[in-house]
Amino acid sequence: MSPTAFSAIERAFGPEAIGAPVTVRGWVLRSRSSGGILFITLRDRTGIVQVTGRKDALGEVPFTAAEHVQNEGAIAVEGTVAEDRRAPGGREIRASRIVVIDAGAPYPIFQEQTEEFRLDKRHLVIRSQDHVATFRVKAELLRTLREFMDRESVLEVTPPILSGNAAEGGAEAFEIDYFGRPGYLSQTAQLYLEALLVPHERVYALTPSFRAEKMRTPRHLTEYLHLEGEFAWTDLDGLLSFIERMIEYVCRAIAERRPTELRQLGRAPEDLAAVRAPFERVPYAAAIEELQKKGFAIEWGADFGTAEERALTIERTAPIFLTRFPRELKAFYMLRTPGDPRTVEAADLLAPEGYGEIVGASCRETNVPDLLERLAQLGIDPAAYEWYLDLRRHGNIDHAGFGLGVERVLRWMLRREHIRDTTPFPRTPSRHTP
Ligand code: 4AD
Ligand code: MG
Repeated sequence: MSPTAFSAIERAFGPEAIGAPVTVRGWVLRSRSSGGILFITLRDRTGIVQVTGRKDALGEVPFTAAEHVQNEGAIAVEGTVAEDRRAPGGREIRASRIVVIDAGAPYPIFQEQTEEFRLDKRHLVIRSQDHVATFRVKAELLRTLREFMDRESVLEVTPPILSGNAAEGGAEAFEIDYFGRPGYLSQTAQLYLEALLVPHERVYALTPSFRAEKMRTPRHLTEYLHLEGEFAWTDLDGLLSFIERMIEYVCRAIAERRPTELRQLGRAPEDLAAVRAPFERVPYAAAIEELQKKGFAIEWGADFGTAEERALTIERTAPIFLTRFPRELKAFYMLRTPGDPRTVEAADLLAPEGYGEIVGASCRETNVPDLLERLAQLGIDPAAYEWYLDLRRHGNIDHAGFGLGVERVLRWMLRREHIRDTTPFPRTPSRHTP
């Protein structure tokens, strides 16, 4: 069997496959042997097929060798495609030859194991069909996000991940020893995107962000993929309209391109295809009233956590923007609302069905004294932000941007209970291995 002679398993399901010879290779999902016939479910990247091998066709010794292959062992199969109503997809490969590539050790993963054990064995668990489907949709999401940016003439740039600044404030940054000086893992690329705004006007980055938050919730990771965009000459309305068009675009594209995976994971593609801009805009003050009516003991000025965002979105089927938050709740760089000094020109996009925040967005403060005032209130040394303030001294213009949590979006799209199931090797406060 020369390597070029192998065909993809999906070929066995093609229109002219019945009766044709095929040679495939892959991993054994499961197998059983009864009455001198071996039934193997074989998987490659393109599909799953049943292989049957009769002892009289394969010969005693090769049959026994194939019988001893464990789940997730690797084999190659020569045979003929036949119709079989009982087999998955209605076809099987009747083997004339089975070559054992790696018989494998007994596979340690079963259905009933604890979540902790499965996280210890994550390097193997990610072979499961749900993970396979999830990461295909994730790849599609990354592709369509980049596609949308490209169509909108937003330039992809490459900000650093290591920095001497903790951009969003110190408490939630992972500090590292940078040759004897403090360094930080990036929490956001925003400040660098603001620097790259001139001369490019519209920029984005897709990079990992790190948050040293001891948050044990189903929506927090300590490392996540962050899509961030920054736009010159833009106000809050312009920014929100960009974000809602982007969300509509990716929802529709994924519904069209990955319907099988969506259905497998319990999401009707029609749900995503139905997402349409514009999204409802709910001012923070109105959200407080809505929560009070729902029985929350909450007052103007309080931040929203998982419970509040869940209550605001559980009965909705479309995303909503929460807008104009109290200034004290938000980062130092957000612009004050013209005519309302208590609030900032910011919005969070909340996914429906209880999933909560998936995008954070704001107009950026352009006034140096206001920036210095907020840094002082937060107890941040302005010296570290001198380069950032410099941007306000040379071609200072209105601008705005957003950050989208890729795994947050995927958790909503795929209706995953926990965000860790949207990333192959989740990083959480209690775990950074394997
Ligand atoms: O709201 P955040 O903190 O905003 C920023 O970092 C801005 N500087 C972004 C910008 O304007 N360029 O984070 C943005 C998004 C959130 O809406 C959420 O989707 C995601 O990042 N996110 C997380 N995702 C997973 N785990 C966490 N711990 C996350 N923290 C934020
Ligand atoms: Mg936020």
